[in-house]
Amino acid sequence: MKILIIGGGGREHAMARAISASKKCTHLFAAPGNPGIAEFATCLNLPIDDHLSIISECQKLAIELVVIGPEVPLVAGLADRLRAHEILVFGPSAAAARLEGSKYFARDFCQRYNIPQPAYARFTDSKQAKAYASKIGPECVIKADGLAAGKGVVVCSTEKQAHHAIDMMLDGAFGDASQTIIVEACISGPEISAFALIDGEDVIWLASARDHKRAYDGDEGPNTGGMGAVSPSPDETSELQNDIIENILKPTAKGMVSDGAPYTGILYAGLMLTNEGPQVIEFNCRFGDPEAQVILPRLESDLLTIIIAHCNHQQHLAEVLFSPDIAITVIMASKGYPGNYQSGSIIKGIDSFTEESGKFIYHSGTGENADGNIIAKGGRVLSVTAIANSYAQARVRAYETVSSIEWSDGFYRTDIADF
Ligand code: GLY
Repeated sequence: MKILIIGGGGREHAMARAISASKKCTHLFAAPGNPGIAEFATCLNLPIDDHLSIISECQKLAIELVVIGPEVPLVAGLADRLRAHEILVFGPSAAAARLEGSKYFARDFCQRYNIPQPAYARFTDSKQAKAYASKIGPECVIKADGLAAGKGVVVCSTEKQAHHAIDMMLDGAFGDASQTIIVEACISGPEISAFALIDGEDVIWLASARDHKRAYDGDEGPNTGGMGAVSPSPDETSELQNDIIENILKPTAKGMVSDGAPYTGILYAGLMLTNEGPQVIEFNCRFGDPEAQVILPRLESDLLTIIIAHCNHQQHLAEVLFSPDIAITVIMASKGYPGNYQSGSIIKGIDSFTEESGKFIYHSGTGENADGNIIAKGGRVLSVTAIANSYAQARVRAYETVSSIEWSDGFYRTDIADF
């Protein structure tokens, strides 16, 4: 089967590696891909917002399956357009991807289907938003309704911060995405990311993970897209897994069917384990990044076989087995990230890395210069993963690889999975 992966980050590198390992994969393409993905795939210079070009390239290259990694093309309806051209797609429709594409849709959905979540209200008027924030605060969370490249959430601990965030968003900091905002009550507890494969009402639990969102050690510094992750989450128990499946994942799948927007693909529920049980912080309509870089290396079954079974509405027939081992990934980011950073510095040590059992370097934001050197080309640049039978051993193995990479313009957290 000829397959196209949409995306070019660490998540898509992990997906490309797993899919290309399948005997069913005859040729893998990626758009746009990256130098790491290019080891497994032919990279196509196609903008991922140009849906018509993607469709015509699929027709030209006889691509039979498209696997969509990031949320933006899903929310924009790429899956729907490909399906209309009878191309198999792994990923939800635009109507189903509203679970991530509109924070208000997700909150209203949870309320209608009694899925546990914090108190919230939606606003377009700053005076009313501030009054509500003061009523539920001083701690509260301000969210842009639409997609804002992972930057549209501000956790506030004072009234002043909340008012500032409300003004910033309603004044258009994220364009149309923040013309409507959600003000939410703060809830507390450990966070867990739960991943499931959903086809209508059929829910298959995949794995849990914990992301490390703050930029610096000790959970200090600004929020990022994720500076490292571990799977399974140290909080996962079979009782918790069951609670999440029964009270969050199944009602979500069922509710989307009732709403006439059946969900297909990976559902990533970002949850907080409060004293009252797990509550939804947010839904995402795809694998997490960097969570995919710790979940997929633990998958012992054939990812492509699972995806094909899912696309043919037969996911229940697929074998889905994960190793009980621990995987951790450490993100190496450009100095300055998540603020401004320089691109173009040369990274050494990747070429001499020889992949050994359970150790991987995924490219998140790299490019190649004219001399063929790997260079930094983004905020999060590399995702260094290792697997072992304990958190401590997985840490040792991942940081061994990190130490072998020479990149003076990069930084990383030293405390990923240091439980
Ligand atoms: N790691 C957070 C995300 O993928 O959204």
